Amino acid sequence: MVGIFSLVTGWPGQSGYGSASTAEQVTAGIDASNLTAVITGGASGIGAETARVFALRGAHVIIAARNMELANEAKKLILSSNQTARVDAMKLDLSSLKSVRSFADNFIATGLPLNILINNAGVMFCPYQLSADGVEMQFATNHLGHFYLTNLLLDKMKKTAKETGIEGRIVNLSSVAHLHTYDEGIQFDGISDQTRYNDKKAYGQSKLANILHANELSRRLQEEGANITVNSVHPGIIMTNLMRHSFLLMKVLKIFTYIFWKNVPQGAATTCYVALHPSLKGTMGKYYIDCNEMKPSIFARDEKLAKKLWDFSELLVKSAQ
Ligand SMILES: NC(=O)c1ccc[n+]([C@@H]2O[C@H](COP(=O)([O-])OP(=O)(O)OC[C@H]3O[C@@H](n4cnc5c(N)ncnc54)[C@H](OP(=O)(O)O)[C@@H]3O)[C@@H](O)[C@H]2O)c1
Ligand SMILES: *[C@@H]1O[C@H](CO)[C@@H](O)[C@H](O)[C@H]1NC(C)=O
Ligand SMILES: *[C@@H]1O[C@H](CO)[C@@H](O)[C@H](O)[C@H]1NC(C)=O
Ligand SMILES: *[C@@H]1O[C@H](CO)[C@@H](O)[C@H](O)[C@H]1NC(C)=O
Ligand SMILES: *[C@@H]1O[C@H](CO)[C@@H](O)[C@H](O)[C@H]1NC(C)=O
Repeated sequence: MVGIFSLVTGWPGQSGYGSASTAEQVTAGIDASNLTAVITGGASGIGAETARVFALRGAHVIIAARNMELANEAKKLILSSNQTARVDAMKLDLSSLKSVRSFADNFIATGLPLNILINNAGVMFCPYQLSADGVEMQFATNHLGHFYLTNLLLDKMKKTAKETGIEGRIVNLSSVAHLHTYDEGIQFDGISDQTRYNDKKAYGQSKLANILHANELSRRLQEEGANITVNSVHPGIIMTNLMRHSFLLMKVLKIFTYIFWKNVPQGAATTCYVALHPSLKGTMGKYYIDCNEMKPSIFARDEKLAKKLWDFSELLVKSAQ
């Protein structure tokens, strides 16, 4: 209730920020010039705004995208307002584990450090499809591709954190939609089963997986003593290309619920806050909405489920190779 009230009024929560805060506002005064960040899906929507604001704060930004034309446009746009901005575009298709591997290889070959990883790319409500590896598309893109990517980049992140003494951060774009998933949370016994496919629940499932993952990785990193935090966020509801499979539905929905919607600069705020704000130092395994910590669903807080998903994802990656 309090959440809905502050969402509509834009009143700030405990952090001092709220639903009306923009990415620029929540990062005002932050110097990110010692940071290198990879942003998946950074060519459009919330990811592109996140990339712009990171560059504005001086970070070296790598836009990881499957559509290189769009990625180069996003890069040009940033450079057009700041010629000295450090921004690169690199090819990454999260629905193909092979592409994820080659992105990671290419990134590591650049010799760049890696402080921040924003797992932002995603698809929503698409009709039943299989990925290049034969895995249901929303689970494959939103979760499995990011699972593999994160694992491949983790050594680089650990090394960077150790050498620079700067805390590394991983931010997962989840969604309130994680509340609307299959009855068992994650459909382990039929992850790619077409007969049980529901486009809305499959999205919710993949977004639940994002939170579970952030929590399990967080636990593992803490155990190892690595100076890297992992948190997840719900960015708000924002009209972006994400709605491509549900455009009409969303348009109509927005007429009745327009007070709940945010614009793109507001949509990127929670990501930027969690990735850059000094007040989050040492914070991990948490879930944020409108720049304030919130409790996710019971499934999302289930440690056993998180562990099971980790093992399941590892097996899936192995069997696809
Ligand atoms: N907008 C909302 O209301 C909302 C609410 C809750 C959560 N979220 C989450 O926020 C994140 C960003 O969404 P957005 O609203 O900014 O949508 P968006 O504009 O569609 O951005 C998503 C990005 O992901 C990319 N992408 C999709 N599939 C990919 C793949 N296989 N490999 C690499 N990149 C891929 C898209 O690239 P292409 O252009 O090539 O497709 C696009 O650049 C998503 O994780 C979404 O689930 C959004
Ligand atoms: C960036 O790194 C340099 C060199 O290590 C250091 O002097 C400077 O204080 C750092 N800047 C910030 C904002 O941390
Ligand atoms: C421009 O980019 C530089 C280098 O990354 C950065 O330090 C500076 O803050 C940026 N300025 C603006 C206005 O974007
Ligand atoms: C979320 O973070 C974990 C790290 O905990 C990563 O392995 C997982 O794939 C990420 N998922 C997404 C899409 O954010
Ligand atoms: C992690 O990095 C931060 C600086 O960002 C530092 O203050 C902290 O002591 C580091 N923690 C560990 C365990 O190295």
